[in-house]
Amino acid sequence: MSVPLPDLPAASGSHGGIPGSPARPVSIAGVGGYAPSRVMTNHELETMVETSDEWITTRTGIRERRIAAPDEASSDLALKASRCALEQAGIHPRDIDLIIVPTATPDMIFPGTACILQDRLGATSAGAFDLSSACTGFIYGAATATGLIASGMYDTVLVAAAECMSRIVDWNDRSTCILFGDGAGAAVFRPGDETSRFLGFELGTDGSGGDLLKIPSSGSRIPPSPESVENGQQYIQMAGGEVFKFAVRIVVDASLAVLEKCGFTPSDVDWFIPHQANIRIIDAAVKRLGFSPERVVTNVDRYGNTSAASIPLALDELRRDGRVQKGDLVLMVGFGAGLSWASALLRW
Ligand code: UT7
Repeated sequence: MSVPLPDLPAASGSHGGIPGSPARPVSIAGVGGYAPSRVMTNHELETMVETSDEWITTRTGIRERRIAAPDEASSDLALKASRCALEQAGIHPRDIDLIIVPTATPDMIFPGTACILQDRLGATSAGAFDLSSACTGFIYGAATATGLIASGMYDTVLVAAAECMSRIVDWNDRSTCILFGDGAGAAVFRPGDETSRFLGFELGTDGSGGDLLKIPSSGSRIPPSPESVENGQQYIQMAGGEVFKFAVRIVVDASLAVLEKCGFTPSDVDWFIPHQANIRIIDAAVKRLGFSPERVVTNVDRYGNTSAASIPLALDELRRDGRVQKGDLVLMVGFGAGLSWASALLRW
């Protein structure tokens, strides 16, 4: 849908002139999550690679993860999460202006998974594109949606993060295959008000760390060939220890940065939703930030690392079980391949 650009308010408008803070209030009108029904437990993994439930639980906090059915792809997961989010928001698909699908596991390189979703939803007025930012994808998508709505360019943006990580892990590599799972989380972004709105974002990248977490043969650098497949270059490769250290540091730094930017401190936060990669990363960051454990939202025990989907899946659970109340301050922080990081502060 094409909307004329309005006159933008001055940078020092009612939002207090906070850099990265949206001028026109933007909030989340609906959230939805979907995880495939097939559960893979740590005990099942014990039959596939040399590992143990005890090792996986103590080193990662993961007890089980969901695995997409053979005929399910990321767009199928995104569709189910999106329908929930739209229903909750009371929005008809034809009223969506733009669809963003953050994913590291698109159905295929093109057409974009967002285009497939647009068709299947019947979102006849929507533009659509995929967003490639791995585990930080949802927050990058949220920042994009918020900016487009804040500017007045769009009113309704669907951000549907969906991942079939089970399709890109090497099931013979015990150091990575135990970590990931499949799932989707979607949110409908709409104009908010002064009491319910995104307050700010902090996005960051350090591309010099790109080699620490990558899929070497997944694009133009090393096109798929019998040799690349023989070498397993189509699978995730990760320097786990390095990424771990980066993650703990950046979750703390990105949290403090967005809080400071918006004039808050950790003690103001009602709900902390970090990317769900490893409970030890979350615990270490939570300790440094001083959050009380009951304010931390986790699902890594049940879903493993669902990449871009982990934060909206957790947000959906927080909403569905009634924990989050209007006016609560919600801090979300993503980190991952890039290396990249992203934090968002939302007044629910
Ligand atoms: O979302 C993207 C961001 N990703 C992340 O944030 C992941 C960050 N990294 C991590 O979460 C952790 O580094 C891992 C969970 C991947 C690994 O945990 P770790 O405590 O760093 O273990 P390690 O890699 O240092 O390995 C310790 C030992 C090694 O054996 P040796 O060399 O000490 O004999 C590994 O071979 O554990 C071994 N090991 C395993 N043993 C049983 C590695 N994977 C397994 C396994 N089961 N699945």
